[in-house]
Amino acid sequence: MKTSIYYFTGTGNSLKIAKDLKQALPGARLIQICKQNMNIQADITSDKIGFVFPVYYRGLPHMVRDFIKNLKINSQTYFFAIANYGGYAAISFLQINELLKEKNTYLAAHFGIPMPGNMWFMYYPHPKKDFTDRTNLQREKTQEIAQQIKVKTEIKLAPLSTYEKEQNIYDAFVPDQMDADFWVQENCNGCGICAKICPAENIKMENSKPVWQHQCQYCLACIHWCPQESIEFKEDSLAKERYHNPAVQCFEVMPSNHII
Ligand SMILES: Cc1cc2nc3c(=O)[nH]c(=O)nc-3n(C[C@H](O)[C@H](O)[C@H](O)COP(=O)(O)O)c2cc1C
Ligand code: SF4
Ligand code: SF4
Repeated sequence: MKTSIYYFTGTGNSLKIAKDLKQALPGARLIQICKQNMNIQADITSDKIGFVFPVYYRGLPHMVRDFIKNLKINSQTYFFAIANYGGYAAISFLQINELLKEKNTYLAAHFGIPMPGNMWFMYYPHPKKDFTDRTNLQREKTQEIAQQIKVKTEIKLAPLSTYEKEQNIYDAFVPDQMDADFWVQENCNGCGICAKICPAENIKMENSKPVWQHQCQYCLACIHWCPQESIEFKEDSLAKERYHNPAVQCFEVMPSNHII
């Protein structure tokens, strides 16, 4: 009885959920969805497969969408998904269900966990208490979800009345080139953490400074994890506090620790 939990993360919220889930489901394995693991083409041996991810522009991060699309699976497997978000899951579960339908199966259960929104420089300052409350509640919610996964609970997906509107927002999200608006302050010390933490291998170090390669997922890991807070997005992030999940450390997010 093997459970595989595939997660994608920028600022650690999804990783924290995935780690708590692994702890609650003995024997479960964690696999990071990142460029280095995109060569995983099949999982036909797991009894349960879960996807843990942040919602981006009302839907799935592109890398999560592409990973599921490419994955050869066994249609007898129990599939579950856990979305986390600042607002709500929107079309992300329906998107997974569609991808699974193409493989003659379906999303058996879906769960949502509100977490601190990591695009917070867009709507800064965010109430800190709300962030702390969400972070504190997450562990309890994950435990409840684990109990449901253990017994393979089925949760029917409801249609979404705002589907078309959300889909349009999702379609307008083209992350590859969004890194063109990233720039680096003078205080960058060339430590290379931004390059190591990028799940898309989108940062090359040149003359001890990051250079973005325009294959961005827009996960914001580089901005939020830079220890010098040197990376900016346009003028929007200037002098604004960064965020990462308080229970996750920088090295845990680095893909090099999770290549399988
Ligand atoms: C590019 C981007 C788009 C986002 N879009 C949404 C959204 O449409 N709806 C929402 O509720 N949260 C949105 N968020 C917030 C994240 O889903 C949320 O902060 C999540 O917990 C981050 O997870 P992580 O720490 O694992 O990266 C967005 C974040 C990013 C970086
Ligand atoms: S993490 Fe920050 S300080 Fe380190 S190289 Fe990248 S931008 Fe510079
Ligand atoms: S360049 Fe930055 S925002 Fe883009 S995928 Fe890499 S870590 Fe994420």
